[in-house]
Amino acid sequence: MVQLTLPKNSQMTEGKVWDKPAGATNVREFKIYRWSPDDGRNPRVDTFYVDLDDCGPMVLDALIKIKNEVDPTLTFRRSCREGICGSCAMNIDGTNTLACTRGMDEVKSETVKIYPLPHMPVVKDLVPDLTRFYAQHRSIEPWLKTESPAPEKEWRQSREDRAKLDGLYECILCACCSTSCPSYWWNGDRYLGPAILLQAYRWLIDSRDEATGERLDNLEDPFRLYRCHTIMNCAHVCPKGLNPAKAIAEIKKMMVERRV
Ligand code: SF4
Ligand code: SF4
Ligand code: FES
Repeated sequence: MVQLTLPKNSQMTEGKVWDKPAGATNVREFKIYRWSPDDGRNPRVDTFYVDLDDCGPMVLDALIKIKNEVDPTLTFRRSCREGICGSCAMNIDGTNTLACTRGMDEVKSETVKIYPLPHMPVVKDLVPDLTRFYAQHRSIEPWLKTESPAPEKEWRQSREDRAKLDGLYECILCACCSTSCPSYWWNGDRYLGPAILLQAYRWLIDSRDEATGERLDNLEDPFRLYRCHTIMNCAHVCPKGLNPAKAIAEIKKMMVERRV
């Protein structure tokens, strides 16, 4: 018989409500997803309170403050704290984004709700397992492939050809787009998803690359490329303002052009 409820071990439970900071008058509530592989307990949502008068303005500032001053076991990734490394990607107030560039004043609901990136296995708390995502990135061979003899100094590119990489090279592989894509949720084992396809297009249109045919062959598959149904979630959430859906459409155009 079809099981219509979640298995018992994946049902969310009430989490711990931590104390409000003593004497603080400007306090914001945070509800944060917690799960640990080590304690055998179900996932839960803990409630924390942060004194905004004693905290930086970004959601990542609040997470760091909670970890430093309230619960050192709270687990999340971060590194650059300026939107460059992509490691602090998480779901904040229902949207996949970077905690370090999302201001607390941009979060509309009074309570700041924070979950890991959706539809990925969780390593712990807000840390998703990106193993498959990185393997998919590796599968598109994201490096310059050439057959011509290497130039003495460097592979040169005209300004016009270099400009074709704008809107692509800025991708920080944060996975916000892929984990907001319904096609990737349901077929992530076979569909490459918007982030990886944007990266694939970055190499396809690089004037210095000499493996275009081979790269297109690698994508010519009913699942790897053609599961994009132009739902556009990817372009709406990208924290770098990129448009993976457009890159995917350009790859499909290249496929058609080489057939005619
Ligand atoms: S446009 Fe394509 S890649 Fe982007 S969210 Fe929609 S289905 Fe996914
Ligand atoms: S396209 Fe944007 S959302 Fe997707 S991985 Fe790159 S930077 Fe992140
Ligand atoms: S910490 Fe590097 S992007 Fe947020």
